[in-house]
This record gives sequence, structure tokens and C-alpha cells, in this order.
Amino acid sequence: MSQLTAPRTRILGTGHYLPDVVRTNLDLEKMVDTTDAWITERTGIKERRVTPEGMVTSDLALFAARRALDSAGVSPSDLDMIIVGTVTPDMPMPATAVFLQQKLGAPVCPAFDLSAACAGFIFGMSIADQFITTGVMKRVLVVGVELLSRVVDWSDRTTCVLFGDGAGAMVLGPAEGAMAPNGKPRGVLSTKILSDGALAQSLMIPAGGSVAPVTHELLEQRRNKVHMRGQDIFKVAVKNLYSASKNALDLAGMTPDEVDWICPHQANMRIIDLAVQRLAVRRERVLTNIDRVGNTSSASIPILLDESLRAGKVKAGETVLMCALGAGISWGSALVRL
Ligand code: ACO
Repeated sequence: MSQLTAPRTRILGTGHYLPDVVRTNLDLEKMVDTTDAWITERTGIKERRVTPEGMVTSDLALFAARRALDSAGVSPSDLDMIIVGTVTPDMPMPATAVFLQQKLGAPVCPAFDLSAACAGFIFGMSIADQFITTGVMKRVLVVGVELLSRVVDWSDRTTCVLFGDGAGAMVLGPAEGAMAPNGKPRGVLSTKILSDGALAQSLMIPAGGSVAPVTHELLEQRRNKVHMRGQDIFKVAVKNLYSASKNALDLAGMTPDEVDWICPHQANMRIIDLAVQRLAVRRERVLTNIDRVGNTSSASIPILLDESLRAGKVKAGETVLMCALGAGISWGSALVRL
């Protein structure tokens, strides 16, 4: 997972998609015992997107993927692999990635889902990087997509205020010695991915798998919805995001002050602030959109990166450190020169 030599993989294009329907904190005040003030102060979230009926996870993925392919100048027919990070697939089987493959009209190639919750996109990038670095693949589509509004218990104020729907996508390919305007090589400088099953019970959807196949009783108990011990996650999030970020920097032989932008998973503004403080990175170098989109799990980082690129805030040649942590717990980071 290290890249002390010149990068061999680079980002060819990015895209994202957010459904049109906005659910604000004021809307939630009418649904559960909460307030805009509590949500804003404890999380930084003001509103999130909700997918209308009739749309499914692979639809969100499709819109984001098309935009990423367009910006990369790559046709679906050129794809060598499709990786979809999601915990809210179209259905348990087959993979959402094959529905995306079908909708894109992509050729026969490996297309699979990856379950690493909020870290799913970083895991996908890391896998794509390995296949491209070894010369096995030339065009890999990585998507992070979540339709969390369908697995959130809208009567549970401790979780429903946090999550939102959306999709982000990236096309990766060989760096081929591409240079940034500042004369430095463009590409993936390092990645680091990790999991710790000791905290597996902290965040889960308990029913619907082999442990608890769905029954009427389990549905009534809403065991098919997200259950979270938020403080368990909060406690490890800052420490692990810091260590994964530091690891990625060390692997690339860089220090935090050499990074132009931090693009962190948007779980909670307080987690982001504390992790960034520990890294000693200036606050204005941190990209955020949590106020508008909430926690979109695996879609969080690619949405934020694509928004920032399209807005012209982040530019070619700049260095971006992405880091995420979620259910599993799984976490990781990726350092890239755009
Ligand atoms: N509105 C009002 N009050 C609330 C709400 C709400 N929406 N939610 C909880 N409360 C109450 C609690 O009931 C509790 O009340 P009590 O003191 O009477 O018992 C009080 O607020 C404090 O609750 P805490 O859980 O201690 O609040 P905390 O400050 O820890 O914030 C939060 C909760 C936002 C969930 C935080 O713990 C967090 O962000 N955790 C990390 C979440 C995360 O990152 N998850 C992983 C990524 S998601 C993925 O992988 C898919």
C-alpha cells in the first residue's frame, strides 16, 4: 500500500449525484423529538437528501458514474473493472455493481460490491490502485453510493438525523508519468486501509442476514434498520482517522503541512474538527459539505471531492488527503496529487 516511487495510478475523472429532495432539520423536528439546534450543534448537519420512490441505489450510482466517465473522457466500453462501495445495495444478491454495469452498458468485466461502510470508497480506491499499479487493469470505475433513507429508522432520533442519500464516482487509470502544473507527478501517492472487528457490534443492521432472517416480528422491532452506539464510534473515530492519515503521509514521505486539502468523511463536524486539530492542519484547508448532505457513508468523500473540483476550489496539481471511518469498524486514507 505504499508509493514512495512515482505514482503509477491517477484519477482520470470524478462525478457525483444527489437526489433533488431535501429533508431539513426543521422537517425532522416534525417527525421525532429533536431540534435544529441540537442537530446543528452536535453534528453540523442542517439538511440531507432523500431519494424519491422508484429510484434505487444503482440509479444514483449510474448518474454519478456517467459524470465521472464524461469528465475522464472514458467510455463505459473501456472499463476493465467496476467496484461499488455500499451498505445499501439494490438487493443482497446480485451485486449493485452488476446492475450498474448493465445500466451503463459496460462490457464483461469484474463488477462487485464492497462492504466497508463509510470507508467503502477508500477501500475501493485502494483496490483499484493495486490492479492498475500491477498493470493488470487500465480503466477502473469506483463508486461510493448509499440510499440510507431506506434503512434508517425514521422514528429513532439518535440515527435518523445523521444520514443522507447520494453517490460519488471516480475513474482511475495509469499515471503514465503525468505531471501537474507545478512540475510534480500526478497520481495516487499512498493508501492505507484497516478494519477492527472488535467493534463490529457498534453499528449494524441486525436483521436480514443469516443471523436473523427477516420475520414479521423482526420487522415490527425495526431490526432491519440501522442500530448504532454513536459514542463508541465517536471515541475511536478521531484516533483512527488521525493514525490512518499519518500512515498515508508517512508512506509517501510527506508531512501534514505539505497537503493542500483534507477531504474527510462527513460523519460529524466535531469528529472532523478534532481529527484535523490532531493533524495540525489549518481549518481553511479542510473541505466540508456536511451541513448540506449529512453522512452519506461511502458516497461522502467522492461527492465532496467532485463538488470541490467542479467549484474550482480544488485544482489539478494540488495534494488531497482523504480519510474515512465507519461500521466494521473499517477505516482508511488515500493521499493523491490531482
Ligand atoms: N435530538 C435531540 N436529542 C438527541 C438526539 C437528537 N437527534 N439524539 C440523541 N439525543 C439525546 C440522547 O438521547 C442523549 O440524551 P440523554 O442525555 O437524556 O440520554 C443526549 O442527546 C446525548 O446523546 P449522545 O449520544 O451522548 O450524543 P453525542 O454528543 O454523542 O452525539 C452522535 C451523538 C451525533 C451520534 C455522535 O455520537 C456521533 O456522531 N457518533 C459517530 C457517528 C459515526 O461517525 N458513525 C459512523 C459512520 S456511519 C457508517 O459507517 C454508515
